[in-house]
Formats: sequence, structure tokens, C-alpha cells
Amino acid sequence: MLDTTKIMDNSFAADVLMGLAASQKTIPCRWLYDTRGSELFEDITGLPEYYPTRTETKILQARADAIARLAGDGAQLIEYGAGASVKTRLLLDAMAGLHAYVPIDVSASFLAETARQLACDYPDLNIVPVVGDFLSPIELPALGAAGRKVGFFPGSTIGNLSDAEIADFFARARQDLGTGALFVLGADLKKDEAILIPAYDDAAGVTARFNLNLLRRINRELGATFELDWFSHEARWNEVCSRVEMHLVSLRDQTAHVCGKRVDFAAGETIHTENSRKFAAGELSKLAAKQSWRTQETWTDEDGLFSVMVLEAG
Ligand code: TRP
Repeated sequence: MLDTTKIMDNSFAADVLMGLAASQKTIPCRWLYDTRGSELFEDITGLPEYYPTRTETKILQARADAIARLAGDGAQLIEYGAGASVKTRLLLDAMAGLHAYVPIDVSASFLAETARQLACDYPDLNIVPVVGDFLSPIELPALGAAGRKVGFFPGSTIGNLSDAEIADFFARARQDLGTGALFVLGADLKKDEAILIPAYDDAAGVTARFNLNLLRRINRELGATFELDWFSHEARWNEVCSRVEMHLVSLRDQTAHVCGKRVDFAAGETIHTENSRKFAAGELSKLAAKQSWRTQETWTDEDGLFSVMVLEAG
């Protein structure tokens, strides 16, 4: 996953201080992914309760050939966020006529490692890594007169974005990828709370460690004084916003210091660390359509847990 250590240090401090000064304390979710956080997230994807990764992988396995046909020969595959996963390889294996693979990630070191590993397994593939944050404008490399550009955004990471960020993301991708482009998008679907909550609060406590690792990181990198034992992980279903919210709950009245600033917590008060939105059927198609993306395909698994969509630039 993403390693955000390379993003300017002071933006971390600024995000944390600003977030903790709000009445509902909050910290942007990208800071969850330091090296340890990225490892813990990898562990989450293999948990029995965490259905999204294996379900999306199954859908992609079944549909990789169809995606390859839609993409056609000479296509460029552009992946937003971390690559080198099993899912990426499913597409690379199916897309025999691929002209180039362009993984975009904020971490230069992560990208270099991805490119190195893929170059071993796909010696004929033109791999062109781009360092960048997919929430900001990205300069895509000019790779000659190839076929279609195909964006790839798996893992329901789109559900971690706000409405405004989703609109921005679709608009920018539409502009960057251009006319005729395709976009392959993995999105988690709305379902019973009894399935959702355990996926974000597993019995082995891996997700709790992942969430609490944020405080550990703040202590280490910003010299803060959080007592990790005085916070606990909570996953909440927010029906109005159709999202699972991750919180760190203060177990008592307490005071922490961050960058020399005092931060007070009442017992039960929370830091909101992540949203994972769950989409109703057709919802994402509407959001995409507003930014000129037409839905070509919506594939789901047999239990209707997860969806993979193919959008076409209109
Ligand atoms: N994109 C993942 C999701 O929304 C991210 C994620 C999974 C996550 N589990 C988490 C983020 C726990 C924070 C905490 O499913």
C-alpha cells in the first residue's frame, strides 16, 4: 500500500494539528499508511472477515479477458494508488497486447520496488512509474501513439474519498486519460451491518492495531505523547452517509501533547480516522456520469457484495 513518509513532514504535522483542533477530531486517512500501517493493511486484506479483497479478485479473475477485449491492442494501463498486487497481475496477464503499465503512487521507493518486481515477471512490458498523489494533478507520460488509456482504481479506495474528492477525481481522470479512455473501478456495495462491521473490526484485532498505529506514528514522528492503552478502535455504521466510520475512542478524560500543543479528550470522545463508503446500485454511475464517464459494465459477485465497473469516457 501507500507509504506516505515521503510527503513533506510538515504537512503531516499541519494535518494532525488542524484535525485535532476541530470539534469532531479527525485525521486524514492517508496518514494511516506508514511502513507498519501498509504492512498491517496487507494483513487486513487476508482476514476472513474482510470480504472486499478476495471478492474483487474473484470478479476480476472472471472478467479479466472481457476487460482485455474492451481495452484492445496497444492499450496503456494506468493504476491509481499502489500497484503490484494480485489484482494488477490479473489484468497484466490477460492484456497480452498491452503497450505500457503506468503505476502512480506517492512513494518513490514503493514504486521502484513495484517496477523492479514486475520487470522480472513481465520482461517485455514497458513499465513507466509516476510519482504522484492521485488527489492532485498528475502529469502522465507521453508514450506515443498507442491504443486506449485504461485507468484502474481497485480496492474501493474511491469509497474513502468525500463527494467533492470523487467529483474531482473523476473530472481529472477524464481529462488526463482523454477521449476513448476506459476506467476500471472497484467499488464496495451497501449491505447488512452484520457483514460490514466485522470487516472493519476483526476478531484477531488487526484492524484495531492498524487504526492505533496512527497514534504510534504521531508519537514517533511528531514527538506526541498519546497513551495507546487509553484509546480503543471502533467501527461504526453511519446509515445516513452509507459508510463505515473508523474512530479512535478515548477511554477516559485525558490530555496529550502534539508538537508542543495541548489536546484534551473527554471520556468517550473520538478521533475520526477513516470513512469507507458503501455504494447503492447505480449510485457511482451517476457520480461518474456528471464528469462525462459512461458506465459500460457493472459486474458483481454472486452474493452482490462488491462491484467492478467499466466506465468509458463520453
Ligand atoms: N479501502 C479500504 C476500505 O475502505 C481501506 C480500509 C480497509 C481501511 N480497512 C480499513 C481503512 C480499516 C481504515 C481502517 O475497505
